[in-house]
Amino acid sequence: MKPFYVSLRPFLDYRSFKYPMDWGKVFGNDRPLEVEIGSGNGEYLARLSQGQPEVNFIGFEEYCERIHKTLRKLSRNKQNNVRILRMDIRTAFDFLFSPHSVQYVHCLFPPPWPKKSDAKHRLFTTNFLKLTNNRLVKGGVLKIVTDQYPYILWIEEQLPGAGFDRQLNHIAATYDTKFERKWVEEGQKEFFELLLTKVENIDITQKKEENLKYYILDRFDPHHFHMEEFSASGIAVIFKDFLYDPARKTALLHVLVNDEHVFQNIRITIFQTSDGWRLKLAEGTMLMPTAGVAKALELVYQAALVSA
Ligand SMILES: C[S@@+](CC[C@H](N)C(=O)[O-])C[C@H]1O[C@@H](n2cnc3c(N)ncnc32)[C@H](O)[C@@H]1O
Repeated sequence: MKPFYVSLRPFLDYRSFKYPMDWGKVFGNDRPLEVEIGSGNGEYLARLSQGQPEVNFIGFEEYCERIHKTLRKLSRNKQNNVRILRMDIRTAFDFLFSPHSVQYVHCLFPPPWPKKSDAKHRLFTTNFLKLTNNRLVKGGVLKIVTDQYPYILWIEEQLPGAGFDRQLNHIAATYDTKFERKWVEEGQKEFFELLLTKVENIDITQKKEENLKYYILDRFDPHHFHMEEFSASGIAVIFKDFLYDPARKTALLHVLVNDEHVFQNIRITIFQTSDGWRLKLAEGTMLMPTAGVAKALELVYQAALVSA
């Protein structure tokens, strides 16, 4: 049987670092950084990192199964110049990268969301283009490759004010990735490669991680605990579930938190200790410490006070 993957070394758990990340420390050197958005099964990331040992590559992908396939490919790569993270690139650019820190951003076949009603899901909005511009070094390049010409036209509408010069190339199949092969099999012969070069810097402030508080309560009554949904100033907090174990005097809440494009499922626990009740994020909760998470903790604290 083929091993699932040989080494987890390229997989990075961003929770164990301070933001913005010190990429020099991660890689052990200060070589230029290149990013791949939506690295899929990792063919291109593996080829790039193998072919350019003088550059450090960081792939971002949301699907676990594709990350597993990427790790399998990367395990054949003897170099230590590649990392992969399971994360939305918008959150990554918000938190993990400082301004002027990335040399090149690659994105092959981003989901085009072709229906007009789904346009809100498209990645390369003016705001995201401005954020990418800010994270790129002067003269840095964002390359977007797609099979969909209307998607190129839509991105071009987003470009004014984002600080890029554009060049569009009509190309044949070039990249040999899973999605390119799929379109080739379906008969597509022409693809579109948009090269955006940073010519003017767009100022964007670095997002800071919130300091998440622990709360202490003198009293807490799980039987009278009740939460309301919250939505204001770009933050939404929705309470999904509340479980209470009377034997262990421990409550567990499932909460959905949304700050702009960052959507997180978190767990908050309230448990009895010798000096009262303690309220905090449950262990192992995967999260970016955003303003929305801080707000969710505060809302649970207020509701717990009312319950007592
Ligand atoms: C159509 S696939 C292309 C994959 C690969 N580049 C290829 O050519 O085979 C798009 C990929 O982008 C990833 N993706 C979409 N939006 C993303 C985002 N905001 N951040 C990170 N990855 C994203 C998806 O998970 C998906 O694997």
